[in-house]
Amino acid sequence: MIDVLTSATLKHLREDWWNDDFTDFLMAALAPRPGNRILDIGCGAGTAEVRMGRRHLSQLQLVSIDLRFDRVAAAARQAAGHNQRLAVAAGSAVALPFASASFDSVYAVAVLQHVLDLSGSVCEMARVTRPGGRVLAVEPDNSARHWYCSEPAGVEAYAARNRFFAAVRRAAPAAPDDTVGPRMPALFATCGIEPVEVRLFPVSSVHLSSPGDQVWAARRAAVASLMTPAASPDVIEAGRAFAAALDVYEQAARAATGAFVEMQYTMLFATLGQRGA
Ligand SMILES: C[S@@+](CC[C@H](N)C(=O)[O-])C[C@H]1O[C@@H](n2cnc3c(N)ncnc32)[C@H](O)[C@@H]1O
Repeated sequence: MIDVLTSATLKHLREDWWNDDFTDFLMAALAPRPGNRILDIGCGAGTAEVRMGRRHLSQLQLVSIDLRFDRVAAAARQAAGHNQRLAVAAGSAVALPFASASFDSVYAVAVLQHVLDLSGSVCEMARVTRPGGRVLAVEPDNSARHWYCSEPAGVEAYAARNRFFAAVRRAAPAAPDDTVGPRMPALFATCGIEPVEVRLFPVSSVHLSSPGDQVWAARRAAVASLMTPAASPDVIEAGRAFAAALDVYEQAARAATGAFVEMQYTMLFATLGQRGA
């Protein structure tokens, strides 16, 4: 599920969103051959590895890296639980700890949206890919989140959310590019990767009655987690207003008689490229 009231980025991918069609696309895009070395940058808990492993590609050498040690440890455990061989390392997309041209294919899913040095990371992807190898980046456009709600209080909660996340962004010393998805072909080109294809994957969520307790709790927890004692007065004020708007919206949604609808959607941009000679 995605929830624009919970996050400024497209965090909630994985199991709910990552279906067989996407795994099919990933496999076709990476075009693995027996013996190929494939790198997953920002592997998280290893969703891609497990999904690809189910396709019985046992002769592949899968290597996964993530900034967070707990994530690579989780990915390694997942892979082992599925009898898969997976090499993991903790490290950053902006300085990959691998020799140049050491992979046949390299990919990242929903990772570059978090990286400050976007261009540096894409050039790192290019560097570690052999000439002619494939590079795939699947990223959202976090500036383009669409929201519709039949309740005026839902419309106001979304406006308050926008003001809150804008305040959080202004207060951050540096923030990642939030339009990363559609920018990938141009970034590929500047790093010596020829863009070959862009596929768009819609990601959406629809509620035809009030969202359940868990959704409201996640929305409140998300605001609370950003209103730390160190948060700026701007963030605190916008956070209080957002929390109050959420209360009003929850009451209105639960009380709604007749047709209620809350819809949100966005796109993931999957950019496939080929490393130049
Ligand atoms: C939204 S998760 C996506 C995980 C996985 N690719 C998936 O789709 O399930 C983003 C991941 O990127 C990792 N990450 C963020 N910045 C990174 C960086 N500079 N280098 C490597 N990994 C990074 C995070 O730790 C997190 O595991």
